[in-house]
Amino acid sequence: MALREIVRMGHPVLRAPAEPVPASAMRSPAFARLVDDMIETMREADGVGLAAPQVGIGWRLFVYEAAGTGSDAIPLRVAVNPVLEPEPGDPVEDWEGCLSIPDLRGLVPRHPAVRLRALDRHGEPYERRVEGFEARIAQHENDHLDGVLFLDRMTSLRSLAFLEEWHRFLVGAAGGRAERPE
Ligand code: NI
Repeated sequence: MALREIVRMGHPVLRAPAEPVPASAMRSPAFARLVDDMIETMREADGVGLAAPQVGIGWRLFVYEAAGTGSDAIPLRVAVNPVLEPEPGDPVEDWEGCLSIPDLRGLVPRHPAVRLRALDRHGEPYERRVEGFEARIAQHENDHLDGVLFLDRMTSLRSLAFLEEWHRFLVGAAGGRAERPE
């Protein structure tokens, strides 16, 4: 495994819609390496999610995982060619960051629960209902596949803060658990 460079806002790949991963590519060793590298890169960066465009690859693929205690923990998940379907419910605001937009945090409204349909890293389809923090991560990562960044989803930029000031003045202001970037 190897760490990949995480591209930052301003790189065009973050603004381009990603292409579906072809079935033929999914069987290749290069694809397995990409998935492994993304997982390692996410963990090394202390992130809770990473989408392929963030490592310069325009494919519809993301990984996520959040350490935690007990029910807080979100196990490692790989989503290839995902489709998200929001469940009914009022949007919930919470803090987000992004590995491609370092050291900024902002309040972002998201659907409280979504249905995630995707392929796993071996091409096997799965479907899960995810809610809360996991639903937030899935929506954030899925946005990356459409060239959308969390800043685009903020209804107001007034909460936007540098990480240091966020820790000092704002943490906990919205109950925020999403301390770690996605
Ligand atoms: Ni992100």
